[in-house]
Amino acid sequence: MSIWNRRKAIDTASGDPAHALKKTLSWYHLVALGVGAIVGTGIYALTGVGAGLAGPGVMLSFLIAGAVCACAALCYAELSTMIPASGSAYTYSYVAMGEPVAWFVGWSLILEYTLVCAAVAVTWSAHAAGLFRMAGFPEFLLAGPHVELADGTHGLINLPAVIISFVVAGLLAVGSRESATINMVLVVIKIAALALFVALCLPAFDASHFTPFMPKGFAAHTVEGSGPNGIKVGVMAAASLIFFAFYGFDAVSTAAEETKNPKRDLTIGIVGSMLACTLIYMLVAGVAIGASRAEVFSKSEAPLVFILETLGHPKMGELVALAAVVALPTVILAFMYGQSRIFFVMARDGLLPPALSRVNPKTGTPVLMTLLTGALAAVLSGLLSLKDLAELANAGTLAAFIAVGLSVIILRVRDPGRPRMFSTPLWQVVAPGAILGCLYLFYSLPAKTQLYFLYAHGVGALVYLAYGVRKSVLARA
Ligand code: ALA
Repeated sequence: MSIWNRRKAIDTASGDPAHALKKTLSWYHLVALGVGAIVGTGIYALTGVGAGLAGPGVMLSFLIAGAVCACAALCYAELSTMIPASGSAYTYSYVAMGEPVAWFVGWSLILEYTLVCAAVAVTWSAHAAGLFRMAGFPEFLLAGPHVELADGTHGLINLPAVIISFVVAGLLAVGSRESATINMVLVVIKIAALALFVALCLPAFDASHFTPFMPKGFAAHTVEGSGPNGIKVGVMAAASLIFFAFYGFDAVSTAAEETKNPKRDLTIGIVGSMLACTLIYMLVAGVAIGASRAEVFSKSEAPLVFILETLGHPKMGELVALAAVVALPTVILAFMYGQSRIFFVMARDGLLPPALSRVNPKTGTPVLMTLLTGALAAVLSGLLSLKDLAELANAGTLAAFIAVGLSVIILRVRDPGRPRMFSTPLWQVVAPGAILGCLYLFYSLPAKTQLYFLYAHGVGALVYLAYGVRKSVLARA
């Protein structure tokens, strides 16, 4: 069979109805699940970098990225109820577009999940740095080589980020899972810290900080350097970075099977958590700019803490940092777990060596794969900047979202009669909206990121040609 005809059938890709999960969740559970998985590095750290790229217009960047993600999330929901097999965008693409596209999407997801872990580890490190200083760590072990230290020398390695990557991988390898109760507690901690931040900033609010609103313009454009070294600014450049703040909602769509009333609960759950996060983000970004100035806090990797310190609330700053230190590792945990699941499904389909995803009989987890992901995340987070990591993670995610939008359209045309437990409302607008929005965000990413994305897929294509193309289960069908 030609590789272009290798497509999974929906019925074999779907789960076994005998193993259907209990329907216990309602829309408010889904909103909590969504907010729990979504809120993290994006708001705690990237608000600063984004404000540096867009000025006060970063609020608009949040709105745009949120709207694009809401469209993509609705597409995810339709496919996850139609094809409830694990593997998310990778499996949907395998059904709709065949193996080579599925491989491309799977490789993008591997890229995304690993880089998200690394980016969140860097943010964790920025918030935990005070604790490490107290423990006697020198500055050059608290920052990667891209950071210039106060004495003019450069950092060596971001050791706290390396440590947290290994700690989380270790926890996962021995079989730790996030429980619903812990998730709820952490949602409350994360939101309470943001509420505290807003309350403390409001008295210092100065509306004059919002003019000019878009000092660097709207469309992403290069202001310094050229080609891969160019630095892009503008509201869209910030949106292409801030996009990072919104994903994690696949957690909501993968719970589709367990919802009592999928149509109502998923629509409210997905749109609700997107809306809630967009509002929270815009509020936090708005008071941050009102209390400080975009160009002042944009240099900090822990901008919320930095602003509280400059406003004369160092103790409250420590409290917000502590909330981040406690809550962020679960974001890493969720994405490392997701990574091992994608690997597992790809190996089961014969596209990756099964040895990599072998489950340890004692712990019930793919130990080798988990430790490999942890090691890769550790190296990346130890050496690279948050902005570079987040932007490359975004490139992979945008590719996956585009594939999800395309899959919705293709399956609507090819298989219109198939029952859909959840149908994307106005799919003729929402699916193309997701695709075009993601393409525009991808275009707005720095040229360097786009280039690295292509390199990563060049390597991916070689791996596929060297292994998957022959070993695929469908090649033997
Ligand atoms: N949305 C998640 C975060 O911002 C990945 O940390």
